[in-house]
Amino acid sequence: MSKTKEQKSSGISFGLVLILLIAVAGLAFGVYKLVMDGKDTNLETTAFSMKVGEVRTLESVVGTDFSCQIYDETVASIDGEHLLTALSAGTTTIVAEAPGGKNQVFQLTVTGEGSVVVTEATTTTETTTTTIETTTQTLPEGSVTGIQLTFYSVTLKVGEKKMPIVTMSPADAIDKSENWTSSDEAVAKVDWLGNITAVAPGTCTVRVASVNNPNVYAEVAVTVAGDSTQTTTTTTTTSADGATSTTTTNAASVNSPMYIQGILVANKTYGLPENYNPGVDPAAQAAFDKMQAAAKNDGYSLSICSGFRSFETQKNLYNNYVARDGKEKADTYSARPGHSEHQTGLAFDINKASDSFTDTPEAKWLAENCWKYGFIIRYPKGKESITGYKYESWHIRYLGEDVAKKVYDSGKTLEEYLNITSVYAD
Ligand code: DAL
Ligand code: ZN
Repeated sequence: MSKTKEQKSSGISFGLVLILLIAVAGLAFGVYKLVMDGKDTNLETTAFSMKVGEVRTLESVVGTDFSCQIYDETVASIDGEHLLTALSAGTTTIVAEAPGGKNQVFQLTVTGEGSVVVTEATTTTETTTTTIETTTQTLPEGSVTGIQLTFYSVTLKVGEKKMPIVTMSPADAIDKSENWTSSDEAVAKVDWLGNITAVAPGTCTVRVASVNNPNVYAEVAVTVAGDSTQTTTTTTTTSADGATSTTTTNAASVNSPMYIQGILVANKTYGLPENYNPGVDPAAQAAFDKMQAAAKNDGYSLSICSGFRSFETQKNLYNNYVARDGKEKADTYSARPGHSEHQTGLAFDINKASDSFTDTPEAKWLAENCWKYGFIIRYPKGKESITGYKYESWHIRYLGEDVAKKVYDSGKTLEEYLNITSVYAD
């Protein structure tokens, strides 16, 4: 996209800083390099900062046909013209992906009011020349204006340590002292040097802020993995006509359930121990009873057709589906043993676990009201690639009223809300 064309299409983007992403296939750091303010930056640069309210344009010399995904849409948004707007202070990952799947991951730090430098561009429309000039400098000379890390996310096992290398800019900043904090020291601790130590399974954020200018910081998303290994299970199924088929699955052998932000997670990424056998959760049952009474009052009939399922029950279900439909298809609608939410005791299938439930008045009532009783529709329509499962209008998950309302209001799946994946390891 030429600059003139960009100016026409976006209208406002040339008032501000231009970021150019260009393909450099074969470089150790990915398929793009980041060019800011029309100048090449260090090839390792995968991080940049913006100020709340600032707008920038992402460009790629490979053409306009690339997509951008922003992981935390409360921090920044991007439109179809690749116009990036900083919304609120924080850090988010941005993935730029060209057709064919080549991608580069960038880390955006949005700082609050009163920070850094505001730049403005003047453009000569007759030519494609853009002049960028700094018009406002709000911080004293020598202030820290940016922090870059050698990594922004890390997965550790309990007891493991890792330390990102910090680069503060400008290079001649007077005071480059660091202040390290962890959002949850029960999950990971960090010392004054930036050594991150995994304490217990879960996720948290480790932040390093400039002591000189605390508005400037960078964050590492830390995941502490449960102690797990994969074991192979071979199952032989005999059908009514005596024919046998053998199915080999990798079932998770997990030693402890995974809690993320205090929420028990069971999905394709995070499994449950084989002996995790809590039965139906009493709070979830009580919430369902309350919801059932409210639905009845409105003229609708709700009942649980499948509640708690043990590892063994799920294994039998899943293997039967694999025998019937093949593993690839079964994985789109049935969890492998150890990965079903039904094993948490916190999930219920309502009325009928079938697409025929979807167009019933009860399904509509459930979708509109279940959050009030602490439930979410766990596998929504259009989010199959995120949850890992096809749309299930009947499967609800108990999160408690506060969290369910937050998830419902966000319009996100549980995976998006917790910023986690749902993908089998194999
Ligand atoms: N149908 C859902 C994904 C399960 O098997 O738990
Ligand atoms: Zn279900």
